[in-house]
Amino acid sequence: MAATTTSSLDIRDDFPILARVIDGRRLVYLDSAATSQKPDVVIAALDDFNRFHNAPVHRSVYTLAEEATERFEGARDRIAAFVGGDPRTTIFTRNATEAINLVAYAWGRGNLGPGDVVLITEMEHHSNIVPWQMLCEETGAELRWLDVTEDGTLSLDQLDEELSSGRVKLAAFVHVSNVLGTINPVAEMVARVHAAGALALVDGSQAVPQLPVDLAAIDADFYAWTGHKALGPTGIGVLHGRAEILEAMRPFLGGGHMIKTVRRDRSTWAGLPHKFEAGTGNVAEGVGLGAALDYLSALGMDTVRAHERDLSAYALERLAALDGVTVMGPASVEDRGGVVSFAIDGMHPHDVSELINREGVCVRAGHHCAQPLMQRLGVAATARASFAPYTVRADVDALVDALEKAQAVFA
Ligand SMILES: Cc1ncc(COP(=O)(O)O)c(C=O)c1O
Repeated sequence: MAATTTSSLDIRDDFPILARVIDGRRLVYLDSAATSQKPDVVIAALDDFNRFHNAPVHRSVYTLAEEATERFEGARDRIAAFVGGDPRTTIFTRNATEAINLVAYAWGRGNLGPGDVVLITEMEHHSNIVPWQMLCEETGAELRWLDVTEDGTLSLDQLDEELSSGRVKLAAFVHVSNVLGTINPVAEMVARVHAAGALALVDGSQAVPQLPVDLAAIDADFYAWTGHKALGPTGIGVLHGRAEILEAMRPFLGGGHMIKTVRRDRSTWAGLPHKFEAGTGNVAEGVGLGAALDYLSALGMDTVRAHERDLSAYALERLAALDGVTVMGPASVEDRGGVVSFAIDGMHPHDVSELINREGVCVRAGHHCAQPLMQRLGVAATARASFAPYTVRADVDALVDALEKAQAVFA
């Protein structure tokens, strides 16, 4: 496959960590699917909030608290707008894992029982597997799986087949795979799930950082993602939900902040989104995520997508030229995001990662929190290079040079 377009995006100077030199070598960070680096504006937003605006949000009328609340709620508004969502149904969580657990506990425990099915796929991250396993174990519902096909995609025919049982109550699937890079046709999948009378949850953890995401077009009942992969801070994630469903759900956690009234015999709940935000949240991190999305908006998500598509095409082309390297996932860059998992004949992925680290190149080796997918692929682990808007072709060149050296060591 030829890399025909060359994106000129080079924003490395905005990311202070990328100026680091480790053991005399320029840092080549190719693990952005695990966690992304933060631009100066995000670090400055966290610093500014903590230095000058920190106070309890929502509860006080003095000026400092009003400033904190305005910044936090202003960030929520911009985060919702970034994906075409409504701030009222945009719930702050700690991360995507907590967002999915929120649904499993607060919706799942009240709506599932024996005979019902939760449908997931073989390409899910553990955070979109384990909460459903726990839920099914407790409620007597059955967990069923869509296979990953040979080309690293999902089969819509198999989805229809599963839905035709009439027993599926919830289907939960990933928007962009963190291992294969596959971009799933989530709007089409959600439409089929809805036609079968079930609800759909989409894990957008890898999608929001790299694609234009339009929640209205996808129309999922729940859409979960995580801030630290979208150039934002750790400790902040987001769950978008459909208003009627969120209104009907029990709260997830009880405590301060999520109540309207508390009496000795019972309590009543705050309105959305606060009903699902018990306790003091990660306020500075919410503000920091707002700054991260402002930064991505200024770049333009079409530009970000084009840039990462270009990097993926370039990486696939250069890796294909190496002997003994097998790349996993869809062949076409139109169907995949900025993640390239690969295997090298005769080398364990951990050895690959360790050896190229000596050249300053950071890639992830392991099961990537997707053990069922590893079983499907017939491997214990893969090496994975993943990209972000700050990645450049020279990083891919550094990866390939380092891999050649590593292969020479093993030859
Ligand atoms: C597809 C996918 N879903 C969920 C997660 C979990 O994210 P977090 O650990 O921030 O909850 C990840 C993280 O790697 C991911 O790649």
